[in-house]
Amino acid sequence: MDVKALVAQMTLEEKAGLCSGLDFWHTKPVERLGVPSVMVSDGPHGLRKQDDKVDHLGVNDSIKAVCMPAACATAASFDRDLIGRMGQAIGDSCQHEKLGVVLGPAVNIKRSPLCGRNFEYFSEDPYLAGEMSAAYISGVQSKNVGTSIKHFAANNQEHRRMSSSSNADERTLREIYFPAFEISVRKAQPWTVMCSYNRLNGTYASEHPWLLTDVLRKEWGFEGYVMSDWGAVSDRPAGVAAGLDLEMPGSRGINDRKIVAAVKSGELDEKAVDLACERILTINYRYLENAKPETPWDQEADHQFSAQIAGECMVLLKNDGVLPLDKGTNAAFIGEFAAKPRFQGGGSSHINCFKTTSALEAAKEQGLSVTYAQGYSAAEDQATDEMIAQAVEAARAAKVAVVFAGLPDAYESEGYDRRHMAMPVCQNRLIEAVAEANPNTVVVLHNGSPVEMPWLGKVRAVLEAYLGGQAVGIAAVRVLYGDVNPSGHLAETFPVKLADNPSHLFYGGEGNEADYREGVFVGYRYYDKKEMEVLFPFGHGLSYTTFALSDLRLSADKITDQETLTATVKVTNTGSRPGKTVVQLYVGDKESTVLRPVRELKGFEKVELQPGESRDVTFALDKRAFAYWNTQIHDWHVETGAFTVEAGLSSRDLQASAEVTVESTVELPRHYTADSIFMDIMADPKAAKAIEPMLAGIRKAFAPNAEENSEVAEAAVSSDMSMAMLQYMPLRGLLSFSPDTVTDSTMEELLNALNG
Ligand code: BGC
Repeated sequence: MDVKALVAQMTLEEKAGLCSGLDFWHTKPVERLGVPSVMVSDGPHGLRKQDDKVDHLGVNDSIKAVCMPAACATAASFDRDLIGRMGQAIGDSCQHEKLGVVLGPAVNIKRSPLCGRNFEYFSEDPYLAGEMSAAYISGVQSKNVGTSIKHFAANNQEHRRMSSSSNADERTLREIYFPAFEISVRKAQPWTVMCSYNRLNGTYASEHPWLLTDVLRKEWGFEGYVMSDWGAVSDRPAGVAAGLDLEMPGSRGINDRKIVAAVKSGELDEKAVDLACERILTINYRYLENAKPETPWDQEADHQFSAQIAGECMVLLKNDGVLPLDKGTNAAFIGEFAAKPRFQGGGSSHINCFKTTSALEAAKEQGLSVTYAQGYSAAEDQATDEMIAQAVEAARAAKVAVVFAGLPDAYESEGYDRRHMAMPVCQNRLIEAVAEANPNTVVVLHNGSPVEMPWLGKVRAVLEAYLGGQAVGIAAVRVLYGDVNPSGHLAETFPVKLADNPSHLFYGGEGNEADYREGVFVGYRYYDKKEMEVLFPFGHGLSYTTFALSDLRLSADKITDQETLTATVKVTNTGSRPGKTVVQLYVGDKESTVLRPVRELKGFEKVELQPGESRDVTFALDKRAFAYWNTQIHDWHVETGAFTVEAGLSSRDLQASAEVTVESTVELPRHYTADSIFMDIMADPKAAKAIEPMLAGIRKAFAPNAEENSEVAEAAVSSDMSMAMLQYMPLRGLLSFSPDTVTDSTMEELLNALNG
C-alpha cells in the first residue's frame, strides 16, 4: 500500500482522527477511502482480547485464551530460543484472532521489589531484559503480527503512575532504564512502542520529543509507530509534535479537534500529523496484507507448551538433597496454591484461561501418592487453627511435605505497589508449623517478585515457580519429581530484607517527584558494590546435577574499543544427571574515574549437557561491553585500562576470570581553566607534557626531594604530603605559591598550551 498517497488524500480532520483510537482496542477506519481499522490487544503472555465490555485493568472478561508464564518467570529461563518460540505461539493466536498488535513485551527495570508490576517485567538487569524482549518480539513478529514494547520509559512504580515524574540522570537512563528498549529496537525492530504514563524528568513521556524522537528514532532507528499507554495523553498536539503517533484509547474526538485547531493556528506543523498517519497506516497494512485468520490456534497444544516453558523457568533456590522426590514417595501437598495455583498477576495482562492445571491435579494424573491440606485461604489471607492442624497432620503422615505458598492476588497487581516484601503472616506460620511437623519440608513459591523467607533455615528445599502460567502445576510436579531438571536462574536479586534495596530510601518518591537517587546502582550492581549479603544473588539457580566452569580464554589481552573480544569458557556437567545451566559473563572496569558497578552482565548462554560432557561457550564483547555513558560527549565511552572478564553460574559464583586491556580510540574533549586542578591535568598525558616545564620549580617548592627529571609528570604526585596537597591545587594556586615567575600573562600562556 502506498500510504503516503493515501494520507495525501485525507482531510485534516480524517488525519487527526486517525491519530487516536476508535474505541478501546481499534484504530479508526477511514471509510471514505476504504481504510480499515485494526485491532490491538493485551498481552503480553497470552491474549486478553475483549469483544464485549472493555477496560484496561483486566476487570471485564476477555475471550478464552492461554496464559503462558509471565515475564518474571520467562526471564529466569535465560533462554532466548524458548521465549522466541513462545512469541511465535502468541503470534499465531493473534493471527487466528485477527489482532494486528499484541501489547507487550513489558520491559521496565525492576528498580525495587515493591513495584506492583514486577511480575510483568523481566529483570533488574537491562541486558537480560533487552535480550529476552528482543527474542519475544522476533518470535511474535515472525508471524506478521506486531508487538508494542512498553512502557517507554522509566515506568518503575505504580504509585501515582499517571502523574509521577521519574527523575533520573542521563547516565542512569542510558545505562539502566533505556537499554532493554534500545536492544529490542536495534535487534528486533518492534512494530510499535507504547509510551509510559509517567513523566520523565518533568515531561510526560507522551509528549517528550527527546525520548520519542531523538533517542528512539534518530539514535536507535525505530521505524514503527508510537502509541500512548491507555490514557497517558495530556497535551495531544504537543504529543504529535514530539512523536506520539497514536493516542489510545482515544478521547471521543476531543483531542482530534485540538490537533486540527493546532494545525490551523500554526502551532503544529501538519507534516507531523501526516507522518503520524503514515506510520500508523504502514504498520496496519503490514498486518492487513499478511493477515492469516485461517491460522489454527490449538489451545490444548499451547497449554502443553506453556507447561514446558514453565518447567524451564523454575528456579531451584535451595536444595539439600531432598529433591527430586522419588515417585513412590508419600507426599503431602499443603497450601491452597497446590490446588489453585497463583499463576498470573492482576491488571491489563490478566488472561481468561481456557483451563488450568494445578500441581495436585498433575500429581493425581500421574498416579503419584499425594495427600492435600488447604493450609490457608489466599482470598481471605488467613489460616484458621483448624487449617493449620489439618496441615500439620497431613505433614506428619507423609514422608515429604510440599508447601505451595507465595503471594495472593491482592498482594501484587498492576495499579499499586507493594508496601513490604513479606509473605502473608498466615502462610509463614503454616510453613513454620509444617516444617516442625516434618523434617522433609519443601516450599514451592508462586509470586511475581522477591519475598522474605524467615523460615528458610527450617526447610530443605525451595523452588521458585514465579507466576508460571496456567499449566504451572504440571511443571511444578515435573520438577519436584525430577522429570524436568530445574534450570532457571534468578533474573533479580532476592535481598535479605526490603531495607537493603538501593532504592529503599526514595522509592515511590515525594508527591509526584520520584528521584532515582541510587543512579546506576540498581540490583546486583548495588549489592556487589556494597559487598552486601543477599538472600539469593542475581543469576542464582540450582540443578539436580552440578556444573563447573574452567579455562576462560580471551582472544587477546589487549584490544582497542573498535575491536571485538571473544571470551570462551569451558562448562562441564560434573554431576550424574543431564541438565541445563546458564553460563553468565560479567565485565568490570578495574579502575575507573567514574563510579561504576563492580561487574555487569554482558553475555549469557543456556547450555544443556549430559553427565560428564563439556562444551566451550563463546561470547563476543564489543565496545558496549566495556563502555559507560559519558555525559560530556553524550555517548558510550571506554576508559583506557584493564577490565576483568568473569564467567559464573551466578553473579556470586564466579568460577573463572581473566583480564584484558582496552584502549580507547576516542579522546575526550578537555578544556582547562585556572580552576583546573593539577591532578586532572597530570592524568591527561598531553596536558601533563605541556605543564611539565613549569613544574620543575613548583616541584622544588612543594617537594624538594622529588626526583629532578622525572619524565612523567605524574611522578610529581608522590605520596609525599606536600605533593598530595599539590594534586588538588588549582592552577591559579601558582599565582600564590609559585616561587618566582608565574604571572597573569604566563598563566594565560600556560592555559593556551594546555588547551592546545
Ligand atoms: C497498561 C498497559 C496496557 C493498557 C491496555 C494500561 O493500563 O499500563 O500495559 O497495555 O492498559 O490495557
